[in-house]
Amino acid sequence: MKILITGGCGFVGSNLAIFLKKKGFNVFSLDNLFRKGSKFNLSRIKKLKIKNFKIDVSNHISVKKLPKFDLIIDCCAEASVESSHKEISRVFDTNLIGTKNLLIKCSSDKSNIIFISSSRVYSLKDLNNLTNREIKYPLKLKKEIDHNVNTLSPKTLYGFTKYASEELIKEFSYLYNFKYLINRCGVISGPWQFGKVDQGFFSLFIWRALNKKIIKLIGFGGNGHQVRDVLHIYDLCDLIYSQIRKMSKINNQLFTVGGGLKNSISLTQLVKMCEDKFNIKIKIKKIKQTSKYDIPYFVTSNKKVNKFYSWKPKRNLEIIFDDIYIWMNKYKIKLKKYL
Ligand SMILES: NC(=O)c1ccc[n+]([C@@H]2O[C@H](COP(=O)([O-])OP(=O)(O)OC[C@H]3O[C@@H](n4cnc5c(N)ncnc54)[C@H](O)[C@@H]3O)[C@@H](O)[C@H]2O)c1
Repeated sequence: MKILITGGCGFVGSNLAIFLKKKGFNVFSLDNLFRKGSKFNLSRIKKLKIKNFKIDVSNHISVKKLPKFDLIIDCCAEASVESSHKEISRVFDTNLIGTKNLLIKCSSDKSNIIFISSSRVYSLKDLNNLTNREIKYPLKLKKEIDHNVNTLSPKTLYGFTKYASEELIKEFSYLYNFKYLINRCGVISGPWQFGKVDQGFFSLFIWRALNKKIIKLIGFGGNGHQVRDVLHIYDLCDLIYSQIRKMSKINNQLFTVGGGLKNSISLTQLVKMCEDKFNIKIKIKKIKQTSKYDIPYFVTSNKKVNKFYSWKPKRNLEIIFDDIYIWMNKYKIKLKKYL
């Protein structure tokens, strides 16, 4: 099977490309190398003879000219909420026009698509209402969020582009008869993630702790009580492998996919985990003001995806932490350029 992974030099895309290549698939990547760190990932996929098409996904002529694939796995996006408000045109071009171009390609080639969506598709109001936007610590909330939560806007412009892409996929699939799967993911982390403040907090905190740098706790009074669940990238790879193998039977479905309650952690708990692991005291800078787009809590329900694939995350927070640490330690000097 010939597979194109868009964003194949990004965190999710490069890990998935290497995983699927090792499983014997004929894997290709599409990535314009925009993201810091993607050149580093390019050298990794090249070693496995995975070809990267260095084109912009928003350029429909370049996408049209690509060879035919059996399956496209769309991991190409500007995934940062804050960037989506500062660079609106680029984010819409990549995240939404890009999806449209890939869907036209799927319809002309009769190829299927797996889309990596986001937990940011949900209504901010509904997510905030879970905790009344105030976080009293320790959190008593033990809720797992599934696809039934309301998706009304506002939700962030990033979330809007992901949700609009989901809807576009359903339209194209209905019209042109190809198969799709949508995975709405919570926070994903693991080796080869070049974490930023608003995307990839788990790896960012580990990197800063490892380098004895200050960690900022932003929003909700600067107390670091926001909670997220974290999924190991290798668990996501395992799931997508099952999805590819079963696509003829299980298709045209939407799943919520994440670490779940067992893999949930607050920012403060992560700081403590870093301190314990590295035996250090971390300097904290508290920034009290909350972005209107920050949410106090997100933990994913894997109920549906578990029912369809008997899949659940195998790797806990300890394993995610250790795998990131081992990777960072190994490439410490080179990583300074990217993190
Ligand atoms: N990382 C997470 O926690 C997370 C959570 C939920 C959903 N997602 C989704 O997973 C996917 C992958 O995210 P990621 O964390 O790997 O992000 P990433 O930034 O590491 O990877 C995205 C890749 O896309 C490439 N790219 C950006 N704009 C492009 C363009 N116009 N044309 C071609 N390539 C372009 C970048 O160079 C980069 O290599 C995204 O769709 C994101 O929305 C990620």
